[in-house]
Amino acid sequence: GTKEGCNEGDCGACTVMVTDDSGSRALNSCILFLPQLHGKAVRTVEGLSAPDGRLHPVQQAMIDHHGSQCGFCTPGFVVSMAVAHKDGATDHDDRLAGNLCRCTGYAPIIRAAKTAEIAPVPAWITDDLRPLGETPAPFAPASADALADWYMAHPDATLIAGATDVGLWVTKGLMDLPEVAFLHACTDLQTIEQRGSMLRVGAGVTIQRLRAAIGSSHPAFAELLRRFASEQVRGAATIGGNIANGSPIGDAPPALIAMDARLHLRRGAARREIALEDFFLDYKKQDRQPGEFVEAVSFPQSAPDLACYKLTKRFDQDISAV
Ligand code: FAD
Ligand code: FES
Ligand code: FES
Repeated sequence: GTKEGCNEGDCGACTVMVTDDSGSRALNSCILFLPQLHGKAVRTVEGLSAPDGRLHPVQQAMIDHHGSQCGFCTPGFVVSMAVAHKDGATDHDDRLAGNLCRCTGYAPIIRAAKTAEIAPVPAWITDDLRPLGETPAPFAPASADALADWYMAHPDATLIAGATDVGLWVTKGLMDLPEVAFLHACTDLQTIEQRGSMLRVGAGVTIQRLRAAIGSSHPAFAELLRRFASEQVRGAATIGGNIANGSPIGDAPPALIAMDARLHLRRGAARREIALEDFFLDYKKQDRQPGEFVEAVSFPQSAPDLACYKLTKRFDQDISAV
């Protein structure tokens, strides 16, 4: 049932529910590599109804409110809605900004999501993390130390964090990636710590987690992150990837630079810290040595005077014009 529409993370037709110890996320399967799912449970649209065929409340509500016409987008919508429903979320416009519908129109879909809010989460949705059998792990180092050693010996390899940039090199650029390391198992790169007057955010922290963590301390930055891609992309994309990619349309670096953020780089056992502003040398050219990776970024613990805005042609899920 899972559909492929855009094949670049924009339309959400391919949305699946991915569950691990930290909860469930709606993710775009078109730009997920299989090793990123190691040890996690994946629930596609086929798994939303009960084994005996009873519908999930969001599926029933979509029928009751006529939320589907051609139906191409519908599998992705109901999966996003089921994840939001499991989280008890009611910010439906934000939760569904990454699902595009070309024919029904959003009003009946939002009405369906609202109607389903009061229904309990079905029992069959909550039992996803049964112990898994032993399966061989992909190359995904379990710590920054292990990554540092390996990357020194394989400096030409591609690091893959959330794959929301790298995925498109493959699906759209048809690139071969002969040697890769997946960073999602480096849990020590996923911490958010207070250090003196600074907040140190690990490179592997997702935009979704960062946004939640800074909501009250950095309201303007958090609002900018609400406009960063979509729920599906924010749940995979990392702050380290956003910085390391060096894209001129990366949304986080300008706000971080305005806060005088510091970047923590690591090459083998050697670490250095630079102003984030100095990392960007030229168009797509960064101050990063072979075998060197981003460990974290630090910025002041609160920024009451920071104002930042994302200007786009479309409000939701668009590339920054300014
Ligand atoms: P990946 O794709 O895994 O990696 C990106 C690059 O960084 C690669 O070169 C990789 O090797 C490198 N890398 C990753 N982690 C490290 C590390 N720790 N050290 C060194 N190198 C590393 N971006 C925005 O800024 N704003 C948007 O609104 C936005 N919208 C998007 C919408 C869609 C539909 C998609 C598909 C992407 C969008 N992006 C947007 C781009 C992307 O989501 C971000 O740049 C994201 O932060 C990349 O993080 P990632 O973890 O997915 O990186
Ligand atoms: Fe469009 Fe995956 S096919 S987001
Ligand atoms: Fe046709 Fe949404 S029902 S695209």
